[in-house]
Amino acid sequence: MKKIAIFSSSEGSNAANLMHYFKNHPFIGVDLLVSDRFSSQSLVKAAAFGVPTFSFSVAKEGFPAHLPFLLKERGIDLVVLAGYFSLLPICMIEAFPQKIINIHPSLLPHFGGKGCYGSKLLDKILRSGHTSTGITIHFVDEEYDHGQIVFQKACEIDHADTVESLRERMKILEYQYYPKVVEAIFASAQQEKFVKDERI
Ligand code: GRF
Repeated sequence: MKKIAIFSSSEGSNAANLMHYFKNHPFIGVDLLVSDRFSSQSLVKAAAFGVPTFSFSVAKEGFPAHLPFLLKERGIDLVVLAGYFSLLPICMIEAFPQKIINIHPSLLPHFGGKGCYGSKLLDKILRSGHTSTGITIHFVDEEYDHGQIVFQKACEIDHADTVESLRERMKILEYQYYPKVVEAIFASAQQEKFVKDERI
């Protein structure tokens, strides 16, 4: 069994989708949900799925230095960020090189970087005049929204789109593709094969 740890600071709808998808999965299981905010709904969702949680306040305590060791001890194979808003420290990147992925609701490298998330990000996309947007799944390095791209899926922006309608469309794509990309990463020995591959 391959083990994933989900990191989430947010509402946790992607985290819940992943926990649902991998419940009773033949070769992948969600072993732990980590949150850097005690108020994150992802913790509540994990409890409902019976997934163990580890939480801390990144604002008050910073990132726990022992967390990479704890993840190693549990035998985590892949760290999956799902609405995790803090920059991961170098100790995590070094402990899990090319073994941390993130999902982002834009076509990177457009609209990425510090603070590019939530309504602010979607509003920026709508105001940009771009006629298409989409989602990106990428490996995580020491910069925000920067590592090697694994998968992208584009969609049109309608002139009638609002932040809410765009959010909804991005979520549908995220729910559809994130679990499948996690599976594909485990299924492939050559992760490079999935760069910008929309066939998944
Ligand atoms: C998602 O849009 C994800 O792409 C981004 O943060 C959002 C989290 O949403 N990284 P949710 O909490 O999973 O609903």
